[in-house]
Amino acid sequence: METGASVPVQVRPGAPLGGGGYRTRPLAPLIGAEILDIDLSKPISDESAAALRAIWHENCIVLFRDQTIGEEDQVRFAQCFGEPSMRLLNRHDGTSKSHPGVMFISNIRENGQLIGALPDGEMMFHSDQCYIERPAMASMLYAIEVPSRGGNTLFGNMYAAYDALPQALKTRLAGMRALNVYDYEGNPTHRGEARPEAPQHVHPIFRTHPETGRKALYVNRLMTEHIVGIDRAESDRILNELFDHLENPAWIYEHVWRPGDLLMWDNRCAVHARSDFDASERRLMRRCTVLGDVPYES
Ligand code: OGA
Ligand code: MN
Repeated sequence: METGASVPVQVRPGAPLGGGGYRTRPLAPLIGAEILDIDLSKPISDESAAALRAIWHENCIVLFRDQTIGEEDQVRFAQCFGEPSMRLLNRHDGTSKSHPGVMFISNIRENGQLIGALPDGEMMFHSDQCYIERPAMASMLYAIEVPSRGGNTLFGNMYAAYDALPQALKTRLAGMRALNVYDYEGNPTHRGEARPEAPQHVHPIFRTHPETGRKALYVNRLMTEHIVGIDRAESDRILNELFDHLENPAWIYEHVWRPGDLLMWDNRCAVHARSDFDASERRLMRRCTVLGDVPYES
C-alpha cells in the first residue's frame, strides 16, 4: 500500500497542487497524475469530487493504486464525474450481470465462452466511442488480474499533440470533420471503405474540451476513416501524418498495471492503446464509462 506519509509530493511545474487535500505526482512529463491518500471504497464528498475533477482536467488521466473496490464502489465513483453510460454493443460484450453500467475487459474463457470484451492482444490508439454522437467522456479500468508482462495501456495527451502541430496544418484543418467508424472486430489494422452497417459518426478533427476550453486533436488510427469533403488520397495523406504525429512518445505515458489499480482517462483530450500480451496469461479489468456530450470545435 502507498502510505501517503513516505511519498514525496512532486508537482508538475506550472500545475496547481491537487487541491482538496490530495497529494499528486506526475506519471509522465506531459500527461497523467497519480492521486494519493484516497480510498475509493468509501463515498467521496461533493467538495472532494470537485477537487478530483480539477486534477483530472489538468492531467487528462488519473491513477489510483492499491484500491480494493467492488462494482458498487466503481459505479459510485464514476457518478462523481457524470452519468454512467450503458453498454452499446450487444454482441459478446462482457456486460456485468448485476450492473448495466459495468463491463469486463478480459481474455478469460469460462466453459469456452469469453467473459469479457476486447479480449486479446494489441489495440491501436483510439478514443472510446468516437463512432457515436455522444462518446463517453470518461472511461475507467480497474485491474483485477494482469499478465506477468505486456498488456500495458498507453495514453497520449491530445492537447499537447494539437499544440505541437505546424500552424499551417492547424489552419488547414480548422473547422473540418472526419468520419469515425467502429469496424475493428475483424482486422484491426484495416482502414478501408466504411461498411454502411458499421456504427459511425462524423466529428470535428479538433475538439474543444467543454471544461478546459482547450483544443485537442480528435482523430485516431483505429477508427478515423476519412476527412469529410476532400479527396481520398489527400485525406489518407493528412490522416497518416496526424496519426504519426499524435503517437509521439513525448506526450505518451505507458501504464504497467498492478492488481488494484484504477485508472480513469478523459476521452475528450486523451487517446489510448494497448500493448500485446501472451494469450495464455489471464487479464481481467472491470470497466465503467461516463456519458459525454456532442463534440464541437469553437
Ligand atoms: C478500453 C480499452 C485497453 C486495455 O477498455 O476501452 O481500450 O488496456 N482498453 O484493455
Ligand atoms: Mn478503448
